[in-house]
Amino acid sequence: MGILQSLIIVCILSLISSSSDTLAQQPYEGVAINNACANTDNSTSILGYSCNGVNPTCQSYLIFRSQTPYYTVSSIAALFGSDPSQLAQINSVSQTWSFQTNQEVIIPVNCSCSGPYYQANTSFNEQFGVFNVAYNTYQGLSTCQPIQNQNSISIFPTNDDQTITVPLRCACPTKNQSDSGIKYLLTFPIQQGDSISSVSAQFGAKTMETLAANELPNTNNPTPTLLPLTTLLVPLRNPPTGSQLISPPTSSSSPSSQCKIWVYVVIAAASFISFNSMRM
Ligand SMILES: *[C@@H]1O[C@H](CO)[C@@H](O)[C@H](O)[C@H]1NC(C)=O
Ligand SMILES: *[C@@H]1O[C@H](CO)[C@@H](O)[C@H](O)[C@H]1NC(C)=O
Ligand SMILES: *[C@@H]1O[C@H](CO)[C@@H](O)[C@H](O)[C@H]1NC(C)=O
Ligand SMILES: *[C@@H]1O[C@H](CO)[C@@H](O)[C@H](O)[C@H]1NC(C)=O
Repeated sequence: MGILQSLIIVCILSLISSSSDTLAQQPYEGVAINNACANTDNSTSILGYSCNGVNPTCQSYLIFRSQTPYYTVSSIAALFGSDPSQLAQINSVSQTWSFQTNQEVIIPVNCSCSGPYYQANTSFNEQFGVFNVAYNTYQGLSTCQPIQNQNSISIFPTNDDQTITVPLRCACPTKNQSDSGIKYLLTFPIQQGDSISSVSAQFGAKTMETLAANELPNTNNPTPTLLPLTTLLVPLRNPPTGSQLISPPTSSSSPSSQCKIWVYVVIAAASFISFNSMRM
């Protein structure tokens, strides 16, 4: 390799590392689901949120939307390896409660560094493939590559009943965030129609701080685009509460959103197959 090439590489590397010093928070995932499974680009957070916080482990929270068969406190707690009494308490419901379909549920998790990324571990007995685990069961709270890396399993359904580790997306506050009083980061799965300001307002977060937490630009025009089944980090000063959660409208809209997820799954599986067959 010539000296010039070496210099260019050193220069690029130092640019990358200095920009990641100043951008000390987490880049928004920003990858559409039809590209998500084949994506190994670590400049976004699709592989996980970097282990760059003050603490290597912290309390954090996820939002899950109840869906069959995960709609009781005990089934949802089991899905996330969470404590049922803690889950009931934070959602202000009893331990025998059943949530209505598509109701938001707060999941308390212990978030810790595992290699370069933060994650909360849970385990799941899967037989329908990684894509289904990440985007249907866990609603984008996990992504394909980290599941594959940690379990050496195929992306395709195997019909084998096997228990796998599911790394859930979470993060601990950076120095900047804790200096300004932020104690928790809530991982929020985006649905069609969500915006930075609507999600921030729902949890009493400041829009500017949510933008910074996700390294999104502060522009009104165009406003940053959020893609369904990606996650947004919401910076909180207090734990989230049951009264902040959104119930689904009591109409027939929930079957169609279930259906939408399946459409995404099919599109993504199809594009993954075509991606793979192109490589063959
Ligand atoms: C962190 O805080 C410092 C001082 O308040 C500020 O100059 C810097 O821009 C912040 N960095 C990020 C990534 O928010
Ligand atoms: C991102 O990927 C590049 C190339 O594969 C690697 O050199 C780098 O260490 C990775 N960064 C992180 C934070 O994993
Ligand atoms: C999280 O950590 C706390 C304190 O270490 C512990 O009491 C709790 O059981 C843990 N929760 C889970 C779900 O592992
Ligand atoms: C989570 O799982 C990964 C991979 O199986 C493991 O390396 C890590 O130690 C686990 N973390 C915790 C906190 O159990």
